[in-house]
Amino acid sequence: TTTGEKQELTIRLCRPRGFCAGVDRAIQIVVLALKKYGPPVYVRHEIVHNRYVVEGLQERGAIFVEELDEIPEEHRHCPVVFSAHGVPKSVPADAQARNLFYLDATCPLVSKVHKQAMRHQRLGRHVILIGHAGHPEVIGTMGQLDEGSVSLVETVEDALRFEPPAGQPLGFVTQTTLSVDDTAGIIEALKQRFPDIQAPAAESICYATTNRQEAVKAAAPGTDLFLIVGAPNSSNSRRLVEVAEKAGTKRGLLVQRAAEIPWDEIRDISVMGLSAGASAPEIIVAEIIEAFRQRYDVTLDLAITAVEDETFPVNRELRDVPLTTE
Ligand code: F3S
Repeated sequence: TTTGEKQELTIRLCRPRGFCAGVDRAIQIVVLALKKYGPPVYVRHEIVHNRYVVEGLQERGAIFVEELDEIPEEHRHCPVVFSAHGVPKSVPADAQARNLFYLDATCPLVSKVHKQAMRHQRLGRHVILIGHAGHPEVIGTMGQLDEGSVSLVETVEDALRFEPPAGQPLGFVTQTTLSVDDTAGIIEALKQRFPDIQAPAAESICYATTNRQEAVKAAAPGTDLFLIVGAPNSSNSRRLVEVAEKAGTKRGLLVQRAAEIPWDEIRDISVMGLSAGASAPEIIVAEIIEAFRQRYDVTLDLAITAVEDETFPVNRELRDVPLTTE
């Protein structure tokens, strides 16, 4: 087919999109550890929620485990990296007890939430964590605090039902990757019931989450389809699909690779939004644009709402490794 026969499609490509500074740093930590110490380097949990990234690191010699006891005796001297989502305090304690050398890739913005939660606790407050049950970041944040001193609230309904321990002041923090708008609703509900509830000293939802949602919100109205590149277990990516739908796209869709695009279902589109979650590499965005170019006469329309320049330094142990020998 010639270009002239292809259906026209405008792709509104959001910016900022994709990798955030925390994900970038976590991947760097594994890559630099492989360079400095040689393979294997163990990684506890998926370093970031993306198969493509995980497989790329496996090829270089990273070994992924869910728990530290999976590291064999003869590899106790190898470094183990903790994922960007953060870990409960019991994990570094366990690593120390096992005499393991660990490198913590917890995003500094997640660590900041940990500190805020601990601050609430230190000030005698019962902590409410707004987040999604089972997500590694939630497990990590809850694991900073004493058993029973934190309650998880997932929805406005939870906020309305929540029964605080009698006579104790309250403080809240949130997961870093929630929907800015949904979280505002939950906080509002909590404040209505508990006017004295204390907010964290600094915003918990991170800059990357906020910026990606803003960009999607601005680009979504009038689109026939909104594709978000991301994994099904990536919280921030799933929120982007919801934000796109609330902001007026006809259909939001989460895909990990171009191969997952349901071409038969999306035939009659003329304007499409495209963005990527914080753990999705740019190469997959390019792959998806290319897949559309093969089927449509594509015009790229850049939807820029912010420019990011955040970078987070890697762990001190790795700062002497040259980055240039990629
Ligand atoms: Fe950190 Fe936010 Fe990314 S918390 S890992 S900068 S999504």
